[in-house]
Amino acid sequence: MNRVVCPGSFDPITFGHLDIITRASALFDEVVIAVMVNKTKKTLFTVEERMEMAKDVTAAYPNVTVDSWSGLLVDYCKANSINTIIKGLRAVTDFDYELQMSQMNLQLQNVETLFMSTSPSHSFLSSSLVKEIASYGGDVSSYIPAPVLTRLKTRLASVNSDSSSEK
Ligand code: PNS
Repeated sequence: MNRVVCPGSFDPITFGHLDIITRASALFDEVVIAVMVNKTKKTLFTVEERMEMAKDVTAAYPNVTVDSWSGLLVDYCKANSINTIIKGLRAVTDFDYELQMSQMNLQLQNVETLFMSTSPSHSFLSSSLVKEIASYGGDVSSYIPAPVLTRLKTRLASVNSDSSSEK
């Protein structure tokens, strides 16, 4: 079986991620979304929440599954007998770091990385920008699926009320 892992923070999952995941699901027998835990990176959503959102918005794709991992991506690949990583490339600015990681992952455990160009309609999209725009009350409904938007609004409202009660 031809399996591929699509790793990321998915904090939260956007239409840009979904673009890559759905196109990869047409090319591979199984796409595993690996929600990565990075202890040094502060996320808005817990890993469980990020997984729930990813499961929710990919439920229509029978060959897409969701998992999480804390540690090296190549160790996840080896533990799950997956030899290929798929990554979306939005612009040349993504390329330097992605190339470096792909070469390191090849060197570490002989895991291949395939780059898929993001659809031009999503080339400017990132979870960080979505969170920033939404935190200032901007409309991000074109960038994230509806259930994710609902959760994002709820989370930002609770973050804002926590920070205002601290003043
Ligand atoms: O969505 P992100 O935050 O851009 O995803 C980056 C991610 C999580 C895919 C990348 O940082 C990663 O693979 N982290 C796992 C730890 C690891 O394997 N580091 C060595 C990379 S060569």
